Amino acid sequence: VWSAVPAGPPDPILGVTEAFKADKNSRKINLGVGAYRDENGKPYVLPSVQKAEEVINTSKLDKEYLPITGLAEFTQRAAHLAYGAESVPLNNNAISAAQSISGTGALRIGGAFLARHYPTSKAIYLPTPTWGNHIPLFKDSGLDVRGYRYFDKSTVGLDFEGLKSDLRAAPEGAIVLLHACAHNPTGIDPTPEQWATISQIVKEKKLFPFFDMAYQGFASGSTDRDAHAVRLFVKDGHQVALAQSFAKNMGLYGERVGAFSLTTTDPEEKARVDSQLKILIRPLYSNPPCHGARIANTILGNQVLCDQWKGEVKGMADRIINMRERLYNILTHDLKTPGEWGHIKSQIGMFSFTGLTAPQTQVLAEKAHVYMTSNGRISMAGLNGSNIEYFAESVDAAVRG
Ligand code: LMR
Repeated sequence: VWSAVPAGPPDPILGVTEAFKADKNSRKINLGVGAYRDENGKPYVLPSVQKAEEVINTSKLDKEYLPITGLAEFTQRAAHLAYGAESVPLNNNAISAAQSISGTGALRIGGAFLARHYPTSKAIYLPTPTWGNHIPLFKDSGLDVRGYRYFDKSTVGLDFEGLKSDLRAAPEGAIVLLHACAHNPTGIDPTPEQWATISQIVKEKKLFPFFDMAYQGFASGSTDRDAHAVRLFVKDGHQVALAQSFAKNMGLYGERVGAFSLTTTDPEEKARVDSQLKILIRPLYSNPPCHGARIANTILGNQVLCDQWKGEVKGMADRIINMRERLYNILTHDLKTPGEWGHIKSQIGMFSFTGLTAPQTQVLAEKAHVYMTSNGRISMAGLNGSNIEYFAESVDAAVRG
């Protein structure tokens, strides 16, 4: 039956983990997937998460189905975290939200909802480059995927002129996907002034802003500061869509905890949107899993635990910043590796877009057992005191050819 099914390529990000696992060399390093590792290179279960699990375990909760749009208390608290206590639509009960299968699920619900109900356009503009999964995800949602310029290779910075002119040239009413903070894969975010300009262009062109916020807290170490762009757009009067993930900032990767939300005009409109989210989700996966949402809900709903969690997020962000500093110093000062490496320090969030070429990444995997995505992105969280020198030396050798 399946003789005509062609073999597909491995996933550009998760395929790297598969290759890493198959490598038996003891020096191997995985800088592919964006998953936090502690100073010993081990996955990190946040102490606040462990405490929340203890609370949940002693509560002896049942395992009944959640509603179609998930745990309402959790989505309400997630919205509060993203939009802020002062948010007008939040306080007006005008935010429609659904718990999702992490950030990917939130994006997919959003893509499907927009394809079905957004009246103006099927075109969605994604930054070039963007998270690899955005492209198939929005195509499979039924949207027409296009790009806007984002990265300037020559400055290893934001191509703000290109971004502005591409958004201005987009058809009126098109959807625009914006990374709320810690842009993946480049680690380059617009400044607050640049966000204000983007908001203005989005307004002039009547574009529909869809925020992907997978790293709230990871960019600056502050969940409030990292929500700046989303809050600014709402304040500027935009209606927005938002995908949130708790994979990175709570370390809940495999628990798949996220939320999709839309700001609406009023509670009546919200209720109609809510009903359509249910109609969309029910045939997809019926209703979401409860354990991870309970963890996030317990943390967000308890001031002491929430403060502890915010401290832990900052701890993760700070360790990454420290690795950036060290990697820069080793490459620039110790090894005098050819090239300019300042971007390793200036980029933010989980990733660094190193500038290494696809052939160089291949050499690094084959000769040094160092794994990263072929676009030269490295997950900074995979570096630690024990492997950073070996990594830098391997990069140095690859660059010198
Ligand atoms: C990444 O970009 O590495 C993460 O968002 C994980 C993923 O699912 O790709």
